[in-house]
Order: sequence, then C-alpha cells, then structure tokens
Amino acid sequence: MEAIRLKNIGKNFGEKKVLTNINLEIKEGEVFGLLGPSGAGKTTLIKILTGQLPATEGEAFVFGKDSRKLKENNFREIGMVMDNSGIYERLTCYDNLKLFVNIYKINKKKIEEVLSLVGLGKEKSTPSGKLSKGMKQRLILARAILHEPKLLFLDEPTSGLDPVTMKSIHELLLELKKDGTTIFLTTHNMEEAAKMCNNIALLHEGNIIEYGRPEELCRKYNTENQIKIFIKNGQIMSLENIPDNAAKIEQLFKQGEVVSIHSSEPNLEKVFLALTGRRLEE
Ligand SMILES: Nc1ncnc2c1ncn2[C@@H]1O[C@H](COP(=O)(O)OP(=O)(O)OP(=O)(O)O)[C@@H](O)[C@H]1O
Ligand SMILES: [Mg+2]
Repeated sequence: MEAIRLKNIGKNFGEKKVLTNINLEIKEGEVFGLLGPSGAGKTTLIKILTGQLPATEGEAFVFGKDSRKLKENNFREIGMVMDNSGIYERLTCYDNLKLFVNIYKINKKKIEEVLSLVGLGKEKSTPSGKLSKGMKQRLILARAILHEPKLLFLDEPTSGLDPVTMKSIHELLLELKKDGTTIFLTTHNMEEAAKMCNNIALLHEGNIIEYGRPEELCRKYNTENQIKIFIKNGQIMSLENIPDNAAKIEQLFKQGEVVSIHSSEPNLEKVFLALTGRRLEE
C-alpha cells in the first residue's frame, strides 16, 4: 500500500483558489519533496493530509485512511514538524518530551535517546524558551520522531538554520530514511531536495507543474551543456560540450594552463526557473 495518495485535491479559501487538481502517490519508505515558492500552497497541502484542514475538492489518503477521518491510532504512526511548533517554552527539553511520552505511552528512556540523537543531550534540563532557533528546531524534530512514526511530515525543517545544524538534521533524516521512514518534506532549498528526495514535485500557484526524480528533472531541463575551464591567467573559458571542442580542451591541458574544469551542473533551481520564470527564493 502507498503511504500517501491524493486524488484531485483542490482547496479554496473563500474566492481564492490555493490548490488545483493535485494528484500524487508516495510509496512507503520514500522521501518525497514538495518544492515551491512562498505562498505556493505547500503548508496547505500538508494540513489537508494531516486532517488539519478540509479540502474543497478531492480526496486524501494516509496509509489508505481518508485524511478527514484520521484517529488517534493513525496519528500514532505520524510525526509532524510544522511552523506552529507546539513547544512549551517554560518546560525543559526533557519535560517537553515527557508530555508526549505520556500521551504515546512509551518508555521514558526514549527521551534521552532522542535528545542525544538530535544533539540536545546537554540541553536536557534547559527550559526550551532559552534555546537558540536551531536548537528549538531540533527539539521539535525530537518530538516528531519520539514515537518512531512510520510517516514524517516536515514543513521546511531546516529553513533559516546554519549549515552545520542543517547538515546534522540531514544526516538524521537520512538515517530515518534508511530505516524505512516515509518522509514528506517541503523546502525552498534545492540542494536539500536533491540530496534527500527520491521524488519531488514542483508546486507553482497551486498546481504541480513537474514531478520526478531530482536528477531526471535536472537532466530534462539542462539546456546549457557548457564546460567552463578556469585558466591560470585568471581567465574563464566557456565551451560548448561537443566533440569539436575536444582538441581545444586537450591543448589547454597539454600546455598546463588548466586550473580547474567544470561541467554546467544542471540544478533544480534552473529547472524551476525554466518552468516558471521565477526563482524559488522569491
Ligand atoms: N487559513 C487561511 N485563510 C486564507 N488564506 C490562506 C490560509 N492559509 C493559507 N492561505 C493562503 O493560501 C496560500 C498558500 O499558503 P501556504 O501557507 O500553503 O503556502 P506555502 O507554500 O506553505 O508558503 P511558505 O513557503 O511561505 O510557507 C497563500 O496565498 C496564503 O495566503
Ligand atoms: Mg508553508
């Protein structure tokens, strides 16, 4: 069975159409990335999937269950990291997690295990209101994975974090992926999507305008096909990647002139730009 299935999902807020005809399937164990600029409808889609908002049209299923009818035992299988953090600022990191250990009826030992997994072992007794932004985000993640959910919804889990914290979160997520957790991730960060995701969808003005494996999409929209050669005198040569240019490149190598050589790495940012004329960060 697939972890997630969306059938013709549409969502309006009053007159405003926010999502149109969204169809999607996410297999168990897959990391799926929903990419799109601010206001594209990413959070709205997660809210529909997790039963926090009703769709205007269509149906959403989580492990085969209609998302409008998710019950406690279904939520036992789901973890969420959303903007509305749900962290109690006055409670320590430990006590924040303890609340959820009680709700999920799991062993208290798990608290320290998860805190150290997200690198907050030393902050165990710190009130969460005193944590830095990156630390708080890791506490939210700790809470989301505490009950070992089969499915994780992560709404921009690394947005605004420093590269080191971001990397540690990526490593943790890759571990969870290896263990078979299904992950639904939204992000503005193309590198993050390329690194983590089996499949991605590009959401633009409420429509999925492209879907596929990150590397496939990059290849599909790679129109540049240029090779850049950095030469010792500081010059940069840009040559089309065709057999006719092989001799020229060989010559430069023989003369010992080459500092470095780069192919035009197609990236998801370029794919999005080609499709929408907009950059993702805008
Ligand atoms: N409760 C609501 N009532 C009215 N409009 C809403 C509501 N929630 C979201 N919207 C609108 O729906 C659109 C999509 O919002 P959404 O939060 O899903 O975007 P997003 O892709 O998550 O953006 P971001 O990257 O900034 O988080 C926006 O135009 C937003 O103003
Ligand atoms: Mg959002």
